[in-house]
Formats: sequence, structure tokens, C-alpha cells
Amino acid sequence: MATCNPHPHPAPRTTPAGLAPTGTAAATGAMAPVARQDYRDAMARLGAAVNIVTTDGPGGRHGFTASAVCSVTDSPPTLLVCLNKGSSAAATFHANGVLCVNTLAPEHEELSRLFGGGTPPAERFTAGHWRRAATGAPMLVGAPAAFDCRITRTVEVGTHDVLFCEVVNLASDGGRGGLIYFGRRYHAVGSGGEE
Ligand SMILES: Cc1cc2nc3c(=O)[nH]c(=O)nc-3n(C[C@H](O)[C@H](O)[C@H](O)COP(=O)(O)O)c2cc1C
Repeated sequence: MATCNPHPHPAPRTTPAGLAPTGTAAATGAMAPVARQDYRDAMARLGAAVNIVTTDGPGGRHGFTASAVCSVTDSPPTLLVCLNKGSSAAATFHANGVLCVNTLAPEHEELSRLFGGGTPPAERFTAGHWRRAATGAPMLVGAPAAFDCRITRTVEVGTHDVLFCEVVNLASDGGRGGLIYFGRRYHAVGSGGEE
């Protein structure tokens, strides 16, 4: 799983007396590389909303569960999605150039598992109620919020493509709670309506 803000810049470490740490690393600025598993374990403590990101167009219909989604700016309204380059969905998203980010409610946990990998794309869409958004991407009826987007820029970082997406249309239902992934488990949040 990918995450949105994996590399916050750590504040320089200081001793209780406010002095910079000593030693070779401090003297040279070099740091030991962070182990991949340590990074993954720490990121499991960063709670994130669960979404199903969908697409449709010349490349076909596809969708996957994603927690690595966050807002970039509201002018123009833009969000980003981190997409694993090795996933079955990657080529389809690039071919279509559009996507819809569907945030999930507590009752969508099973749907999230279905879109979480390992099943053919057509099978994923047999569950849930979908309508066609303006871009052609599938929009989940009953999503707390859905953002219909066109992909404006793609930046490759390691195993993932970061897709910058301009929101061209949206739908929201303030009466619904949300679904969060934290500690490698799903959690329901909000009873809805608490604007
Ligand atoms: C809670 C959760 C969050 C996930 N977040 C992401 C994500 O942000 N980006 C991503 O590329 N894959 C994410 N995945 C994995 C994909 O949903 C999917 O399993 C992966 O792309 C492999 O799918 P495939 O079997 O179609 O190749 C997440 C899975 C789960 C269950």
C-alpha cells in the first residue's frame, strides 16, 4: 500500500541542552537508510481514508482501493492519487486519463476488500451501485464524496506513479460517516451530519 505523505522532514535532533547531536552522521549530514519494513510499520500508524478509485474509457473499466489520496490545492481543485505501477489497473488508468475518487462509508468495507486486488476488474463492479460520471468514470452511489477528475500530470516515484488530478465534477453526502484504515484494520468514523 502506498501513502500520501511518507517523507515529512524530521526536525533536527537536539540534546536536552539544545545542542546538535554529535558523531559521524551529524558531522557529515549522512543518515542510515530507513528499512522498508520499518517504514511500512510506521506508516500503518498513519490513519487514512479509504477510497475506491475508478476509471473507464478507451482502455476499459477498472478500479482499485486506495488510501494514498490527498488534496493538493483548491485552486484549481486538485488532488493526488498514488498508483502502484505494477498493479493490474495501472495501464488502464494511463490509457483513459480520467478517474473518479469515491470515498467510502463504513458499510463499504466488503467493497473495499473486493477492489483491494486479486479479482478481475469486471468482477469488482458486480458489487456496489455505480453510475457514469461526467468523465465516464464509474461513480459510487452512496459514497460520502466522489471526485470526478482528469489526470493532468504524472510523476514517477519508486514503485508508484503519483497522479495529479483536476476535479471537474463532484458529489457529496454530508450525512454519511467515513471508513479509515489504521493499524492495518478498517475503522468507522463519524456518524455523519457533523459539519
Ligand atoms: C486499504 C487499502 C489501501 C490501498 N491503498 C493503495 C494505494 O493508495 N495505492 C495503490 O496503488 N494501491 C493501494 N492498495 C492496493 C490496491 O488496492 C491493489 O491491491 C493493488 O493495486 C493490486 O491490485 P491488482 O490485483 O489489481 O494488481 C490498497 C489496498 C488496500 C486494501
